[in-house]
Amino acid sequence: MHTNTALAELWETVNECEACALATGRTNVVLGKGNPDADIMIIGEAPGEEEDKVGIPFVGRAGKLVDKALEYAGKSLDDVYICNTVKCRPPNNRNPFTYELYACRGYLNAQIWIVQPKILITLGKIATYEIIPVSPAVQKKSFINFLKQRPYTRHNRVILPEYHPSYIIRSPSKEEDWLNRMKEALNYEVGTL
Ligand code: URA
Repeated sequence: MHTNTALAELWETVNECEACALATGRTNVVLGKGNPDADIMIIGEAPGEEEDKVGIPFVGRAGKLVDKALEYAGKSLDDVYICNTVKCRPPNNRNPFTYELYACRGYLNAQIWIVQPKILITLGKIATYEIIPVSPAVQKKSFINFLKQRPYTRHNRVILPEYHPSYIIRSPSKEEDWLNRMKEALNYEVGTL
């Protein structure tokens, strides 16, 4: 089955989903954007207000920073597929609860299965620890040390964790380093592993 058809079918399923309470507050489910045949998948956290309105991930302020990173890396939406750990907006942009992450995990797995990316760039702790499960003790340690140990590998895929763009918006002094690491991640050569 063509990836576009498979993703359209997945959208039909997610659009009917009532597996957790986030379903009651959504305007739209937010599945993905970009190229479903791309080698790179970028995984964010959860849709915000703008994304919920239009049903497309990363269209708000954080999205503008992801666009900037793509441009800085000489890439475009043709080179990546972008999605989130959960497909519905948590109220007031709070972090998704564990049971919401569980409820949505099958959809993220389906996206990974359909798109078959070689590289996963996980933005922020929520997406990173969803893809690379670590103990609560490790989660409490500094995220930057975790980032410095990249690349990670899981199931023959390269995982490149990175700060979430919303964090960078709150810490502008970190933006230059972030853009450079995003550039490195977006140009990662799988063969060099
Ligand atoms: N918008 C998204 O779609 N995901 C995020 O993680 C943040 C903003």
